[in-house]
Amino acid sequence: MSHTIQYQHGRISVPNQPIIPFIEGDGIGKDIIEPSQRVINAAVKKAYGTTKKLIWKEVLAGKKAFELTGNYLPDETLEAFKEYLVGIKGPLETPVGEGIRSLNVALRQTLDLYVCLRPIRWFKGVPSPVRFPELVDMHIFRENTEDIYAGIEFMTGEEKAIKFRDFLINEMGVDKIRFPESSSFGVKPVSKEGSERLIRAAIKYAIDRELPSVTIVHKGNIMKFTEGAFKNWGYELAETEFTHQTFTWKKYKQIELEEGPDAAKTALSKAKAMGKVIIKDVITDAFLQESLLHPFEHSVIATLNLNGDYISDQLAAMVGGIGISPGANINYNSGYAIFEATHGTAPNIAGTGKANPGSLILSGAMLLEYLGWYEAAEHIYDAMEHTFSKRKVTSDLFNMMEGATLLSTSKFADEIIRNIH
Ligand code: NAI
Repeated sequence: MSHTIQYQHGRISVPNQPIIPFIEGDGIGKDIIEPSQRVINAAVKKAYGTTKKLIWKEVLAGKKAFELTGNYLPDETLEAFKEYLVGIKGPLETPVGEGIRSLNVALRQTLDLYVCLRPIRWFKGVPSPVRFPELVDMHIFRENTEDIYAGIEFMTGEEKAIKFRDFLINEMGVDKIRFPESSSFGVKPVSKEGSERLIRAAIKYAIDRELPSVTIVHKGNIMKFTEGAFKNWGYELAETEFTHQTFTWKKYKQIELEEGPDAAKTALSKAKAMGKVIIKDVITDAFLQESLLHPFEHSVIATLNLNGDYISDQLAAMVGGIGISPGANINYNSGYAIFEATHGTAPNIAGTGKANPGSLILSGAMLLEYLGWYEAAEHIYDAMEHTFSKRKVTSDLFNMMEGATLLSTSKFADEIIRNIH
């Protein structure tokens, strides 16, 4: 019997007992991984009895890997993720001065995991700074491989920075560098392919889950050829590849111009009634305000790397913070997917039993959904909500909730398992 997940032509084929590689992670990784696996196993058992089961296979990365192999990211780990396709990881500390920029970035780049997916939903009972947290249900598709995050930077005074500056001024006729002698430089590559594959994944996700809209978030008003092009390529893609399943604001504005506002409104209502996904765009700064004031107007969000970084943390804070925000890095062409706790290694609380395993548990629920094991994922969501509504929480949420009961990492997981009905 095969235990290996296969992926062909965008379709995943999952055996009943797939092998799932996992990285324990540094810091609180050790505290949260085992309780999370217990919850995930219990949900699978509840949903499928003995028919289905995850076979966990530990692979090494981070400090543990360095201690055991002398390498922070052994080749065997990358090979395991390639062979088994879908895995999960705890947080990894960024090694200082060891010649490798970040283990997370290395994993994403090697497997070309171009989508960083962060679903943002509120669980009843969780303290939130917004008035109507129950209206928050957003799914962020953050581009993971391009943008100013690509790591092309030149430090002022260094040879490459001088060469780059001289090239810009002498060859390209650039005269807008305010302080050329002391400037550092960064490059922001944004490609048509990179933008299209990200936005395609976001639109498909909205269609598959019957979600109402995709909002393209960008700063195209200022950065016209990168962020502006991202938006334009997104609209073009929607209109050419998803003609019958989407209705774009670009089209709305065109109808408004040619036939008047009433015709445009009618076309939009008709598209909504037909269940078409509405494709719109919002400028990033406006979006940060918009998402607080009218979260229900936005469902799937497609955005570039840096915008996505800021947006993810703001939206996470709206529903309880990074302790319970799940995430995944996915390549929808190859099928490679690594689900992960979105927080860091939290060295200040490692080993104390204070860590909230929620982020990793919910990332596990996302993994189950990716496998098509929706019933098991639902058990986790229900049990989590039940636990929060009984005000049983870990220390990060305890001080924000009146009348709450404080549980350790492990006891919180036990409570969730008890609430899997
Ligand atoms: P952090 O997320 O580890 O900690 C920030 C604050 O949040 C701390 O007060 C911490 O105690 C708290 N916190 C984080 N996760 C929590 C949880 N599950 N339950 C309760 N409280 C929690 O961020 P920081 O301190 O900036 O980074 C520490 C290390 O983690 C660095 O080496 C950084 O590079 C790495 N990191 C790794 C990430 C990953 O592997 N995906 C993501 C972010 C940071």
